[in-house]
Amino acid sequence: MESILTKKIWTLEEAREVLPLVRDITKEYYLKASVLADDVRNKMLPENILESKEDEIGDIIKHWTNEILNLKIDVKGLWLVDFDHGNGFYCWTWGEEDVLYEHGYHEGFRSRKLIEEKKKKMTQINENYLKLKAGYLFPEIGRRVKAYSDANQNAKIIRLGIGDVTLPLAPTIVNAMVDAAKEMGSAGGFHGYGPEQGYSFLIQKIIAHDYTARGVQIAEDEVFVSDGSKCDCGNIQEIFSLDSKIAVVDPVYPVYVDTNVMAGRTGEVGPDGRYANIIYMPATEENNFEPEFPKEKPDIIYLCYPNNPTGMVATKARLTEWVDYAKKMGSIILYDSAYESFIQDPEIPKSIYEIPGAKEVAMEFRSFSKTAGFTGTRCAYLVIPKDLKGKTKSGEEVSFNSLWNRRHTTKFNGVSYVTQKGAEAVFSAQGQVEIKEQISYYMENAKLIREGLGKAGYKVFGGTNAPYIWLKTPRGLKSWEFFDELLGKAQVVGTPGSGFGPAGEGYFRLSAFGKREDVISAIERIQKM
Ligand SMILES: Cc1ncc(COP(=O)(O)O)c(C=O)c1O
Repeated sequence: MESILTKKIWTLEEAREVLPLVRDITKEYYLKASVLADDVRNKMLPENILESKEDEIGDIIKHWTNEILNLKIDVKGLWLVDFDHGNGFYCWTWGEEDVLYEHGYHEGFRSRKLIEEKKKKMTQINENYLKLKAGYLFPEIGRRVKAYSDANQNAKIIRLGIGDVTLPLAPTIVNAMVDAAKEMGSAGGFHGYGPEQGYSFLIQKIIAHDYTARGVQIAEDEVFVSDGSKCDCGNIQEIFSLDSKIAVVDPVYPVYVDTNVMAGRTGEVGPDGRYANIIYMPATEENNFEPEFPKEKPDIIYLCYPNNPTGMVATKARLTEWVDYAKKMGSIILYDSAYESFIQDPEIPKSIYEIPGAKEVAMEFRSFSKTAGFTGTRCAYLVIPKDLKGKTKSGEEVSFNSLWNRRHTTKFNGVSYVTQKGAEAVFSAQGQVEIKEQISYYMENAKLIREGLGKAGYKVFGGTNAPYIWLKTPRGLKSWEFFDELLGKAQVVGTPGSGFGPAGEGYFRLSAFGKREDVISAIERIQKM
């Protein structure tokens, strides 16, 4: 539609004042035209009637155009108008509540932007989010896999990338959840809000099985049941000062770093892929994946053993060194042992509290996700011993347990009764048999991957006490280069090590959570590459 320039120059206030009239006029003609357009779309009408209806629509649009032009407003398209503001146009189209957009004289609808004046009034965002490195790892993997499968429609792609489990929930857990759901449906067995920290029946089992049995004393009010370790690991930083300095092993589960970036504890990311104001502790083949203790004092140290992504574990001696270091420096260790159930070596601690004195320096994160296939069911827990203390600016001691209790009860309303009953069943004798079978299945996968890749000449790490195999990329390839090569030549998807931190560059993660037949085919294909 042709644009007819009018002489009037509009202020934003004037445009907004006249908008109700413009909207009323437009509505009237729009509704008339829509009825006719529906008739026209109905091809059952005879040709001559169709034509006359089309003419009528044309007339309606002409009338609408004239009415708008009479108001000295430009018409730029169907139900699309522009108000000349002397430096470009304010732009409005049918369906919009207000005059919200503008564009230059030589731009059109597609280039319109929110009006500056409107922008000034807008609520400000948390700009720390903009510091986050663009393109999270897994979406980028998804994008590349999709591009490959679009171009190679018959390719049978095997995914050994994302760390989700594949075996169904064990029957004992399912039965417990079904019973709990039925109980919820009975008058006497209904449960509304439960304790935010979790039901005693579950906490007692956690303590008995995961701690007392390993010689560790934990009190009920030191355990907080939640809907996942991801949330716990991500949210825990809220109870620390914004000035706290964090130290992370590099490479590592990205949630630790990203949540601190969001909170504003870091600077921008540098060309080396590191955020300013974080202490990175590289763990590579060169240091046997045992990072040096930072010289500068970290307030918070994130440790994850068995490690995601390297699959490495911490020995008792090594954990003792960490506990001693934290005591010496006055640091708090956030110990993520989401994969403890994969530890096969009886000498390797499953809990940091197996180290004397750890209760004064460490919190521990545990999850049912990988232990019992709860990735889609959601249940985890966090242990914060009451001995663990921080201080206020003025030097008063405060217990982290009480801070987290306040945080948890304010922002979280508890894991569902049905889920907690399912989690409780994990600790029953039969539940233990069933989940151990699942873990053995995954660990057998890990063995096949580790040995298969070893035979194919790859340098592999992890996979003996963890469901992850960390391999050095061949010929010095970058992680993403190897990703593309593996996808292109073997149709196997893994996870580039660089996605877990700068020191992961040149490494690659394969997960043992796949189906056995897929693992076997993947290894055969890789061996033929
Ligand atoms: C190291 C680590 N911690 C925590 C989690 C999150 O577990 P959850 O499913 O309990 O949120 C994961 C999940 O992949 C993980 O790898």
